[in-house]
Amino acid sequence: MLRLGLIGHPVGHSLSPWIHERLMEHEGLEGTYELFDIDPDTFDQQIHELKDNGLDGFNITVPYKEKIIPYLDEVDSSARELGAVNTVKNTARGWVGYNTDGIGFAVSVRNRYPELFYNDQRVLIIGSGGASRGIYHALLEAGLSKIDIANRTIEKAEEVIKSASTNSESKALSLDKAVEQLNDYGLIVQTTVVGMSPNDHTAIIPLYNLKEGTVVSDIVYRPLETRFLQEAKHRGAKLHFGHEMLLQQAVYAFHIWTDTNPDASLLLEGFEKKLKGV
Ligand code: ATR
Repeated sequence: MLRLGLIGHPVGHSLSPWIHERLMEHEGLEGTYELFDIDPDTFDQQIHELKDNGLDGFNITVPYKEKIIPYLDEVDSSARELGAVNTVKNTARGWVGYNTDGIGFAVSVRNRYPELFYNDQRVLIIGSGGASRGIYHALLEAGLSKIDIANRTIEKAEEVIKSASTNSESKALSLDKAVEQLNDYGLIVQTTVVGMSPNDHTAIIPLYNLKEGTVVSDIVYRPLETRFLQEAKHRGAKLHFGHEMLLQQAVYAFHIWTDTNPDASLLLEGFEKKLKGV
């Protein structure tokens, strides 16, 4: 019997149990996915208790993706470069850490729009938080080399660029500069919280310079179709949705734990219904 879980604070509204229970069902595996809401004051003690708990694997969410690292026995090289872990597998060598957030994005966008990767399209990432960093590293690793980062605070975009070892063609931009040169890009990825419900009437930048056929992605998945994506659609863009990334990063974690290869698209329709509350 497989024992999986999630640690974080808070974890009550997580969609991970829904996803992993369906993946277990789909793969014919019996198991559980438990939520561990860990108080920051007792983090050390609770993580030590978890070591004896015998979980096969677990996810880590906010605010512990960095704090978990000293407790791991091994960290895979890309999670180490990123400095954040969202998936741990319990192995004979101990706890091994990975990060599936960025690769979840890269795989889901590549499955839908493989042509972006054939000719090394220019990419614009908007935002410079943890999500931006993960996506930046994963897209570089997936072979895209011309990736700029735009942010309200330009210094933070510079830091994200410096955090990767293969960053030679990247530039940090202001949001205004990004608006001006939007038509340079084949893929635009919105990684900030701007547009998230209940502030769903807002969009991080206007898209009047967007060229038709550009792939536009928003990692916000509440609402499913953000204001940013609505405007992109109106201007003839091809869309990629935040919930596709969310699902794919979970499927990738499940693959790490179980060595199975479930197809994320099998869960997509049910997941959309779940997010819409129907
Ligand atoms: P994450 O959840 O990915 O770790 P974060 O660390 O909270 O995100 O970072 C949030 C990102 O959203 C940052 O790029 C932030 O811009 P700054 O670096 O300038 O703070 C961006 N962001 C948040 N609110 C914003 C707003 N109202 N306008 C523009 N950018 C905003």
